[in-house]
Amino acid sequence: MNTLTVAVVGSGPAGLYTAEALIKQGAAIEPPCDIRVDVIDRLPTPYGLVRYGVAPDHKSIKSIADYLRGVLEHEGVRFVGAVHLGDEITRDDLLSCYDAVVYATGAMADKRLGIPGEDLPGSYAATDFVNWYCGHPDVDPDRFTLDAESVAVIGVGNVAVDVARILIRDPAELRETDVSQPVLEALMASKVREVHMIGRRGPAHAKFTTKELRELGELAGVDVVIGDGEHDLDAFDASGDSARLATSDRHVRGNYTVISDWASRAPAGAGRRLTLRFWLSPAEIQGWPKVENLVLERTRLDAGGRLVGTGQFETVGVQMVLRSVGYQSLPLPGVPFDESSHVVPNAEGRVLGPDGEHLPGEYVAGWLKRGPTGVIGTNKSDAAQTVRALLADLAGGPGAGEAQLPRPGLLRLPAGAGAPGATGTTGATGATGATGAGRDQPWSSEFASLLSQRGVKIVSYADWLKVEQAERELASTLGRGARVKLSSRADIYAACGLIEP
Ligand SMILES: Cc1cc2nc3c(=O)[nH]c(=O)nc-3n(C[C@H](O)[C@H](O)[C@H](O)COP(=O)(O)OP(=O)(O)OC[C@H]3O[C@@H](n4cnc5c(N)ncnc54)[C@H](O)[C@@H]3O)c2cc1C
Ligand SMILES: NC(=O)c1ccc[n+]([C@@H]2O[C@H](COP(=O)([O-])OP(=O)(O)OC[C@H]3O[C@@H](n4cnc5c(N)ncnc54)[C@H](OP(=O)(O)O)[C@@H]3O)[C@@H](O)[C@H]2O)c1
Repeated sequence: MNTLTVAVVGSGPAGLYTAEALIKQGAAIEPPCDIRVDVIDRLPTPYGLVRYGVAPDHKSIKSIADYLRGVLEHEGVRFVGAVHLGDEITRDDLLSCYDAVVYATGAMADKRLGIPGEDLPGSYAATDFVNWYCGHPDVDPDRFTLDAESVAVIGVGNVAVDVARILIRDPAELRETDVSQPVLEALMASKVREVHMIGRRGPAHAKFTTKELRELGELAGVDVVIGDGEHDLDAFDASGDSARLATSDRHVRGNYTVISDWASRAPAGAGRRLTLRFWLSPAEIQGWPKVENLVLERTRLDAGGRLVGTGQFETVGVQMVLRSVGYQSLPLPGVPFDESSHVVPNAEGRVLGPDGEHLPGEYVAGWLKRGPTGVIGTNKSDAAQTVRALLADLAGGPGAGEAQLPRPGLLRLPAGAGAPGATGTTGATGATGATGAGRDQPWSSEFASLLSQRGVKIVSYADWLKVEQAERELASTLGRGARVKLSSRADIYAACGLIEP
């Protein structure tokens, strides 16, 4: 049987669904192909945003990690942690060591507002705050002290909802979650009493989903308030778009029902308050030496549907501003990148070079492929599409009914070549097959030797299991839930019995 080695860069949902699809689809093609996948991640821990993005109080979603664990435990898949493409290894290293490479490095950078005062102390990207409460190893566990009483969250997407909920919910309810102990202690000491969540357009254009929105109204000890008259579908919209969407779009209708219900209620006098504001665009963050005010400009949609400022300003007293206005991907050194859309240019997952030609053996999946939208499950079909393209290239030529695409094939014929019609460009056999270097070494022997020559110490799946065990033991010691995250890179390496690089 042919053996194909693939490097998947990124162990988030897109990378792991890619590995799964490679194994499943590889077994189903004719002749069947034995596929060995190295899932490489810059972090010592797998699962990407499932571990370092999904909010700690969303336990059922976090349990997707249990499903993804099955992928990492497949005999054809290895986890190669703590290896950074662009640092320890290059694109050329991967291209010379594997038959194909799939980039799935997500979108970890934040977007900026471009307004005065954005860099004042007390103004942060939501990505920083999310990384902090999720215990990301890049962020110091002491990064946030919540001494602000009033906080503005800019944006009305699901990340803004997560951030607002974590800020305003009773922190005692997080005791049973996996939130790290220093973060739990900072949340317990939080002085936050009011969170303003601010949308530059109206309720009909908000990006959050109804289930996530409704959860805000179920928080104990929290009043949810809507800005005065701002739920009105016509007051700020001369185009009629809001009213149209509220009738025709099920998602908008769901959100609007929840928002109108809140708008009709008087606050119950709870100790904490979440205020949803609409039709307000951030204009300036003021204060010295740190954030004191957020200046907002009233907006409206004109008859042509364009969002315009009205020249009316209002100032909200806040001591902290979190901009939650979307994520964006970062370019990988040497890999094509579209600087305007912030994705790797691709056709159904095949990476395209500057001339629009498919680059042999290079593929992309997940947020790096399509931009930072979509839930975890969206990455499954996305990864399956990329893998279909990869395996079609292995077999050579487009299938019946498929569009004619430039298709130079993989980097080389896989070991044991003989796939009828295979179109390897070099014909060289390259390094493929198991290495004999031990269960926890990468499949490609060239890659294993390259890492060893450079003194790169990987974190293997067996090492990761030690981290999981340490997190369970920590929870038991602290008398908290099933598991508590280790709060720093040093703790993670110590649990693995490795020296932090
Ligand atoms: C804050 C937040 C909360 C979310 N909550 C939910 C939710 O509750 N439910 C839901 O369905 N969806 C949720 N989503 C969406 C979901 O997380 C994404 O759809 C999904 O994670 C995208 O998958 P990905 O694999 O493309 O990226 P990621 O999950 O970001 O994975 C990318 C991986 O690549 C690694 N990497 C990056 N650069 C390199 C490099 N140079 N070399 C090696 N490795 C690298 C990273 O360390 C990471 O492990 C949330 C998103 C965010 C931002
Ligand atoms: N529980 C879950 O399922 C869950 C949790 C978290 C994240 N996710 C998913 O992850 C993806 C990313 O979520 P996200 O919240 O980061 O992004 P998002 O859904 O794209 O929302 C971004 C928000 O920022 C606003 N915005 C952008 N630029 C702005 C500016 N300059 N000034 C003011 N507001 C601005 C947008 O408003 P405009 O619309 O006006 O541009 C929008 O309200 C989404 O697909 C989301 O559903 C899912």
